[in-house]
Amino acid sequence: MDSKLSILMIAAETHPFAKVGGLADVMGALPRALEKRGHEVRIALPFYGSIKKKGWRTKKIKGLDNVDVVVGDESFEASAFSTSLPDSKVEVILIQNERFFNREGIYSDPETGKPYDDNAERFIFFSRASLAIARRAGWKTDIIHCHDHQTGFVPAWLRHASRQIEFPESTRVIFTIHNLAYQGSYPKEIGYKAGFGEDVLKPMGALEFHGNVNMMKAGIVFADMITTVSPTYATEIQTPEFGYGLEGVLKARCDDLVGILNGADYTVWDPQRDKFIAQRYSLKNLDGKRVCRKDLLKKLNLEIPDTTPLIGMVSRLVAQKGLDIFMDAFESIVDLDYAIVILGLGEPTYHEMLKSKQAAHPERISLNLAFDEALAHQIEAGCDMFLMPSRYEPCGLNQMYSMKYGTIPVVRKTGGLADTVIDFDASQDSTGFVFEDYSPEALLEALRRARRVFDDKAAWLSLVKRAMARDFSWDRSAGEYERVYLESLKRKVVTRR
Ligand code: ADP
Ligand code: GLC
Repeated sequence: MDSKLSILMIAAETHPFAKVGGLADVMGALPRALEKRGHEVRIALPFYGSIKKKGWRTKKIKGLDNVDVVVGDESFEASAFSTSLPDSKVEVILIQNERFFNREGIYSDPETGKPYDDNAERFIFFSRASLAIARRAGWKTDIIHCHDHQTGFVPAWLRHASRQIEFPESTRVIFTIHNLAYQGSYPKEIGYKAGFGEDVLKPMGALEFHGNVNMMKAGIVFADMITTVSPTYATEIQTPEFGYGLEGVLKARCDDLVGILNGADYTVWDPQRDKFIAQRYSLKNLDGKRVCRKDLLKKLNLEIPDTTPLIGMVSRLVAQKGLDIFMDAFESIVDLDYAIVILGLGEPTYHEMLKSKQAAHPERISLNLAFDEALAHQIEAGCDMFLMPSRYEPCGLNQMYSMKYGTIPVVRKTGGLADTVIDFDASQDSTGFVFEDYSPEALLEALRRARRVFDDKAAWLSLVKRAMARDFSWDRSAGEYERVYLESLKRKVVTRR
């Protein structure tokens, strides 16, 4: 077998074209790391209205337009446009269809914050179109790598015994779970629209979940191999607490499930080359970090002395991220003489709660309800600590970015946070503060410990330096994906019912 693999990634987000969360960061980096290892990688991504609006240079691919794609009883046309990931040859295939993608948002309407009510149809169309276009183009495809529930029907189309979509026998299909809580569970009709029958949609059927059809389950049941984004999360999702009802299905496939820690993209997240920050810095010369803190405080209109540590949070504002224990601990955090900057967007209830905290302590909290890439970088560079009190966290990327910026992560011991941050009291190699219980008390205790070390300048500086020296480059993760691809190619293809 040729050691150079031809890989088609199918995903709903890719940085820098379309980003909601970490999935985009992964798609912007993993393909490049695989390319560096000698593989040929393409990414299929919807041609969202927002991508058009930003004016990315794209070109229509000859012969790949007006491809018919069936969704339910209707047929829609897909056309493919091409662009590439910055500084790489990784081709991004933008799948265009006016009706499904010519709108501003990725999953939700930015005006109302509500998910589009035809999301199931949009992503069935996108997934089917990606396969149809790959076949029409005649790309040699060794691996189809699908990401998250939006693409979960792909493995089912290829591996259900009825083989809805024919692909060469030699192609393997891998499914990566980035977040098990978002499953794409829809009324059964959606299953019919995707072309499936009663055999898999009936109670206890392979795609059935509490009377609905479940796209995440489809990916898990039918993929040749399954990965998720950290080793700890791979174990956690096989338990009721983290499995969201799919723990049994995952357990049944535990021999084909691998946890691969995400990397950090240091072409984007490195204080030595960051284009968004006030002054660049490095492990050898930390002067710039002080400048960045000053600059950030000025931007945020916060006036605090050097002795007050500044905590950053950049996050989707949803239950996953531990906002309820943060809110409960909030007054005590202020009492510990911390200042906090928050950048995030999410559920309106969290927006309101955070607004009331800010109203109570405007001198201590800067609240930024927005999606702002530049500010995210400035927070990484300008803060002293970065807080991620997540209830669960499949991998989490900001704690890895934070370490590189010498911004000490304070995290809950779950998923990828547990796999990347070493607690101050646990080891001489410590890189942050880790707490175990999901409670405001445990969070506060970690911040109390962090505060004590912060006050000891020498101890803090060596902690900062240890954190900055950690290396989470993508190459290691890409090597692990490569092993999964090669393993899947060695195995016999199994179809299921
Ligand atoms: P998740 O994918 O669950 O949202 P991750 O930690 O994997 O969490 O990745 C989140 C990514 O999204 C990071 O790159 C983070 O900086 C970015 N991000 C989240 N919210 C915002 C925001 N409001 N503005 C800018 N970037 C954001
Ligand atoms: C998901 C998870 C996050 C992970 C990201 C990229 O959005 O919530 O923990 O880092 O995917 O894999």
